[in-house]
Amino acid sequence: MPDPTGKILLASDHAGFALKEALEAELKSLGYAVEDLGPATDASTDYADYAHPLAERVSRGEVERGVLLCGTGLGMSYTANRYPHVRAAVAWTPEVAALAREHNDANVLVLPARFVGTEEGKAILKAWLDTPFAGGRHARRIAKIERDAESNSSTEESR
Ligand code: RB5
Repeated sequence: MPDPTGKILLASDHAGFALKEALEAELKSLGYAVEDLGPATDASTDYADYAHPLAERVSRGEVERGVLLCGTGLGMSYTANRYPHVRAAVAWTPEVAALAREHNDANVLVLPARFVGTEEGKAILKAWLDTPFAGGRHARRIAKIERDAESNSSTEESR
């Protein structure tokens, strides 16, 4: 479980807005400090405008964890995963969220808001908050993610 005094960043687009509001209330009721990076309404907006500021802060280690929401979770995860040290996992069940922590040390949870209800969303959030990273072989695998694209392409060339 992350330090309950540690801040959790939260952001969505219009499709994730309603669930974002519900999860913000849930996080606060669980004792977490939350910073809502927007939007403030469900007016149409672009997911990347909200994913970039959140991922940038997690990437530089200012904040340990964040939650992003859009319709499918895909646009938010594409954007957040461009940042070093960000591991943004789309989770559509509590089991996937728990595995995203246990095996993948997901520091950003991404919810597909058009495909999960409010209670299911809260259960997914709780599973992600409460499950520790298992380490061991999973730590070795995560270390390999940060290998840069350059070294991957030179492997290609030497084939
Ligand atoms: C918005 O209509 C939708 O495209 C967005 O929320 C998200 O699903 C994109 O990945």
